[in-house]
Amino acid sequence: MSLQTGLIHLAKLRESVIKEEGIPAVWTPGISLSEIPTTKVTRTLSKNKIALFFIATAIVGLALYLVFRFDYRLVELLSVRMDLAGQAKTIVNVVQLIFLGILAYLIVRACNALIFGLVFRFRRGFEAPTLVRNIFTIIAFTALFFLIFTVMFPGINLGALFTTSAIFGVILGLALQDTLGNFFSGISLQADRPFQVGDVIRVGAEKQTGVVEEITWRAVKIRTFQNHVVLISNSTAAREPIEVCPRDNLNARLVFFNTLYSDSPAKTIHVVREAVREADNVSQKITPIVRIRNLGDNGVDYEVKYWLTDYAKYNDTDALVRQRIWYAFRRAKINFAYPTRTLLIERTSKRGMGPGDESAIVERLGAVDIFAPLSSEETAMLAQAATSHVFAPGETVIRGGDPGSSMFVVHNGRVSVQISESGRARNVATLSEGAFFGEMALFTGEPRTASVVAVEETEVLEIGHDAMKRVFDNNPDLVESLSHIIAERRRGLAATEALSGSEGDESAGILSSIKRFFGMK
Ligand code: CMP
Repeated sequence: MSLQTGLIHLAKLRESVIKEEGIPAVWTPGISLSEIPTTKVTRTLSKNKIALFFIATAIVGLALYLVFRFDYRLVELLSVRMDLAGQAKTIVNVVQLIFLGILAYLIVRACNALIFGLVFRFRRGFEAPTLVRNIFTIIAFTALFFLIFTVMFPGINLGALFTTSAIFGVILGLALQDTLGNFFSGISLQADRPFQVGDVIRVGAEKQTGVVEEITWRAVKIRTFQNHVVLISNSTAAREPIEVCPRDNLNARLVFFNTLYSDSPAKTIHVVREAVREADNVSQKITPIVRIRNLGDNGVDYEVKYWLTDYAKYNDTDALVRQRIWYAFRRAKINFAYPTRTLLIERTSKRGMGPGDESAIVERLGAVDIFAPLSSEETAMLAQAATSHVFAPGETVIRGGDPGSSMFVVHNGRVSVQISESGRARNVATLSEGAFFGEMALFTGEPRTASVVAVEETEVLEIGHDAMKRVFDNNPDLVESLSHIIAERRRGLAATEALSGSEGDESAGILSSIKRFFGMK
């Protein structure tokens, strides 16, 4: 099968699908949107039109030749054979006028095609609107007809016939009320140009939506996304509100989805943004925006806003975006939320922890250097007492100056230790997984020396005063190693604040204040 036959076969197949189902052929995964043929079916071939024009012109030309060449014979025929002696000449003249009128019409159509079809397209790059072409045809034909009529019937004043007849005017006005309304609305639409051929519009209370195919002197023709043609009269289009999505404009769409409450927003936003920006027909000029719309009954509700290259394909693109989200969720192990009723049984000792988290916490605490001397039972006991908290990027975990009775271990993510310097936050240290903070206030009873802010989504394990006291009672040596760390951190802060002192003095001072605070000897 040749390529051409194949394409014709495909086109026929598509046409049959459209006819049978009343919808455009459905896009299937794996085929890019650019491969989808447009749904418009060309009805007339311009070649046929040209041939028809020449045949019609030849017939009319021949008829004119005959009625002018044998006019006296026709007059004779009508007078003698048909007994119409009085009107014979007028009848022949009327027949001549009719044929001349047809010829004038054909000439006007030819000029129309030549001026608007060829010259206009050549100079401006697009075809002239149908309404403009129709106005040209009406005016040119009327002028030509008046001219022919005046030459053929010099005794009759056609202008006076129209202008003086008041009754004729009233009848004509009433009969053409709607037509003229549409005609002038069409002119105002052309002058205003609120939309053009190829734009997607949504009109009126019924929200008829489709791609503009034509604007004629009577109506705006749109092709809906079910491949139906809808005609909206020009007067309706001029009266009703119209939502226009211009073809050469970056129009945006919103697609909604949701996730379970257990899925992290930062991760979801990143995963969806990356999945959507790659999709076909999603504009590369603006990065899609993913944001939380609502904290819903069943889960976290999100919306993704993306911009389309070709807005007319928004249905397919919305579907493709949803498909990409599904696959991205599956890879990233994010779950869609569906109507569920979750029964949460709160266990106070392990607030915020999932079932698999406990061993990970024991492992994490075991890897913290100050807890290295602890036995595995003591680490497990500490893990039991630890509470997990998750912070979004930029959220403050502890605030400088606040009282504090617990310390924290970074389980996942990173935090920034910040002090305030002339009203502005200055980073002193960045702590990542396995590091700890908040021990100064916990062990000395003094206010927090700095603020700690999450740099990225961060999970911290909080250990309270009582749990640490139990650990100190079993491991008095731990206090000494901690006092060294606290002294070192104080020196870090002293670079900007007036905290100073020799290392030995400071450690000894901290050691005794920890012992005092925890009631140790
Ligand atoms: P705390 O004073 O309880 O609260 C702020 C915490 O920031 C402090 O305990 C330390 O754990 C931590 N911190 C202060 N200075 C430093 C530093 N120079 N390096 C690392 N951590 C610090």
